Amino acid sequence: METLLVIGGAGYIGSHTSYLLAQYGYQVIILDSFVHNQPFEHSWATVIRGDYGDSHLLQRIFSSHTITAVMHFAGFTSVGESVHTPAPYYENNVAKTMVLLRVMHEYAVDTLVFSSSAAVYGIPDITPITEEHATQPVNAYGNTKLVIEYMLHDYAQAYGLRFVALRYFNAAGAQPEHGLCEYHVPETHIIPLAIEAALSTGNFNIFGDDYPTPDGTCVRDYVHVTDIAQAHVCALHYLNQGGMSGCFNLGTGSGYSVREILMTIAQVCGVSIKYIVKPRRAGDPAILVADASKACNMLHWDHRYSQLPVIIESAYRSIYIGPRRVPQQSITV
Ligand code: UFG
Repeated sequence: METLLVIGGAGYIGSHTSYLLAQYGYQVIILDSFVHNQPFEHSWATVIRGDYGDSHLLQRIFSSHTITAVMHFAGFTSVGESVHTPAPYYENNVAKTMVLLRVMHEYAVDTLVFSSSAAVYGIPDITPITEEHATQPVNAYGNTKLVIEYMLHDYAQAYGLRFVALRYFNAAGAQPEHGLCEYHVPETHIIPLAIEAALSTGNFNIFGDDYPTPDGTCVRDYVHVTDIAQAHVCALHYLNQGGMSGCFNLGTGSGYSVREILMTIAQVCGVSIKYIVKPRRAGDPAILVADASKACNMLHWDHRYSQLPVIIESAYRSIYIGPRRVPQQSITV
């Protein structure tokens, strides 16, 4: 049985992917700092609580397990926050990845699937965006993802690293049926926040309605987290079969505005959402929609669960998952 190290595997996308990897028969070791104190209780992975920037911890893990590949989900992800407070983004995302790559090289672990982002493109000249589009991030978060991609290319050329960087567009939805949900502290993402507003007396804030889009609100390409998880399995198979290192978009090719998201939530969940229009949020491009043909053709990926009502319905059901504890099998190395 192949053993994988999944860094950030107790987070939102990491936990959905870890679950799927376990279903495929991989032995999954999760390294997660639980920096957001997120709930996580599952039997299908070994969980190590720790910091992936700790080279001694990584060395202990690599020397005590035969790890064949690493999946790297860890990092700070709030676009708006990264503009005002970039330092932790560079420390957590870039500096720690440098440590990880150094230790992987030291232990001859040469296969990596990395969570990159559509944020590397910045404000696109044309949509849908292909991987050949210029990369000019407009926020610190996107800059950190792009710097890491550069590092991966250089390590591939110099040291033989084999990598796939998956440029996620907007991950959304959940798998409440498997005890998996979206959990961020604080939550900044549109779908959980809009559902929360619908179920409370609060308002949802629309960040800007004067963008050059059909209804003035930002347009995004929402991908079901189940499809994103599947892409990681596809990427691993691709690398194991000798596929060339590279970057791949994960999106659907269809964009929805903030207002369309609110309308779909209202329809699917039978709720009404009170909203107010606020100024634009720093670092938000008007439109981000993917051309994901490269992932479809080369990784044999598809986005079968990514219809907006399916995404929203799963996100809505996931709010009923009660608080869970850190797992019993959590160990300290
Ligand atoms: N939005 C609101 N109000 C809110 C929250 C969000 O109007 O309360 C708007 C945002 O301004 C944006 C859209 O909803 O236009 C989506 O915002 P999210 O915060 O849900 O997602 P982002 O597009 O900012 O970012 C997400 C990931 C990033 C990734 C990016 C790529 O969090 O990691 O998608 O598209 F880089």
